[in-house]
Amino acid sequence: MIEFYFASGNDYKIAEAKAALAQHRIQVKKLEGFEKLEIQHTNLEEVAKAALALIVSKTQKLVFVEDSGLFVHELNGFPGPYSSYVFETLGVQGILRLLNSTKNRKAEFRSSVCFGTQGKILAIFSSVTEGTITIEAKGENGFGFDPIFVPMWNSKTFGQMELKEKTVYSHRAKALNKLALWYLNASKTGKLEENAIVVN
Ligand code: IMP
Repeated sequence: MIEFYFASGNDYKIAEAKAALAQHRIQVKKLEGFEKLEIQHTNLEEVAKAALALIVSKTQKLVFVEDSGLFVHELNGFPGPYSSYVFETLGVQGILRLLNSTKNRKAEFRSSVCFGTQGKILAIFSSVTEGTITIEAKGENGFGFDPIFVPMWNSKTFGQMELKEKTVYSHRAKALNKLALWYLNASKTGKLEENAIVVN
C-alpha cells in the first residue's frame, strides 16, 4: 500500500485526506515532529510551497502539505489566505455579521496541495468549491467555517454533513484526487520527477 504523510496539525483535515485518498488505495498518515511554517502570501500555492520546502529536505517519506481558505465574493475574497487568523479572531459569527446587509452570499473554498520527497517539490494541485454563506450557523460537524458554508448542488452546510458526504464536495478532497491521479500515473510511467524543484 502506498503511504503519503500529511504535515498538518489539523485532525479534521487529516481525516478528510484519509477518506479522499483511500479511494485511490493510498494510505494517509500524519507526519509527526515537524512545525508547519505559515508565510503571509496572497497565493495559497506559495504558502503551501514554502511550508513543504522546509519539511521535504528532512524526510525520505512521500509528504504533502495543504493550505486552504474561504473567499467571500462580497468581501472581495476576504478572509482568503488569512482564514485561520480570521476564524480565531472574528469566528463564524464575525463573517455572518460582515454579510448582515448583503444579498450576495456567494463564496468559495480553495485548497492547494503541495507534494514532494527527499529535498524535492514534485507537484502542486489546487481546487475550488463554490457555494454560499448561510444566514445562521448550522451543524456540529467539521471545523472552521463548515457551519456557514453550503456547497453548490446541496442544501446542507459542511457542518451538517458526515465526513463521507463532505468529501464528495470538498475543495481539499478535489485537490487530493488530482494529486492521487497524477501520482499513480507518473509513478507508473517514471515521470514523478518531470517537474521537480530541488529545494536543498
Ligand atoms: P490553513 O489551511 O491551515 O491555513 O487554514 C485555513 C483556514 O480556512 C482554517 O483554519 C479554516 O478556518 C478555513 N478552512 C479551510 N478549509 C476549510 C474547510 O474545509 N472547512 C471549514 N473551514 C475551512
